[in-house]
Amino acid sequence: MKGVILAGGNATRLRPLTWVTNKHLLPIYDKPMIFYPLEAMARAGIKDVLVITGPSHSGSFINLLKSGKDFNLRLSYEIQEEAGGIAQAINLACDFSDNDKILVILGDNIFTQSLKPDVDEFEKIAKGAVVYGKHMATESKQYGVIEVKDGKVVSIEEKPQKPKSDIGQTGIYMYDGRVFDFIKKQNPSTRGELEVTDLNNKYVEEGTMICKILTSWWVDAGTSFDELLRANVLVAKEIKKE
Ligand code: G1P
Repeated sequence: MKGVILAGGNATRLRPLTWVTNKHLLPIYDKPMIFYPLEAMARAGIKDVLVITGPSHSGSFINLLKSGKDFNLRLSYEIQEEAGGIAQAINLACDFSDNDKILVILGDNIFTQSLKPDVDEFEKIAKGAVVYGKHMATESKQYGVIEVKDGKVVSIEEKPQKPKSDIGQTGIYMYDGRVFDFIKKQNPSTRGELEVTDLNNKYVEEGTMICKILTSWWVDAGTSFDELLRANVLVAKEIKKE
């Protein structure tokens, strides 16, 4: 399986921090944000990782991460010229993936759990996808919301007014090689983007979407200043525990 990290976008929710830099280069305690998904890839046993970023700061990513040797990874880079949604960005990994399965992590998702057992399990499955969910107290409507019945995913709704469950959709996904065929058939949402939730629902409709629940803490550090702060505090606590 190959890895794809999405590190583009304009991060309007974190302005003015992101006026002159990319959100994924901001610090989370003692490291730039992008280090955390890269370390998650290495923990998952992935070797080849594609970093997809926007045109404005791509040079900074190469300066910072170089070949990926320090992470025990082989890095490639791709540029998303316009911010057209998560699914549009994933589509840029088509040539890189070369029909292999992919593990996608949004670059602002910070968590400690090892994905290795699930990656190994997914390698053996003929077709389908995995979405990671997280039980959330009240905030699930800020995210995609995953409805699971009798162990099966029945729907995923993007930031619904009335969430059908307390399972928020994280930014961690695994796809089979058909993902690019699904994206090519996708239409933009009302906000003009190719949504990851629409993509995931293609697998839900097919009955091949598996929901795994993350048991470690998880933060989408790009959501707000409070979540960015929470990620810093959780990482600091983790380090001081060691
Ligand atoms: C995106 C997805 C959303 C998901 C979230 C997780 O939202 O659209 O379904 O819950 O990532 O990080 P965004 O952070 O782009 O608003």
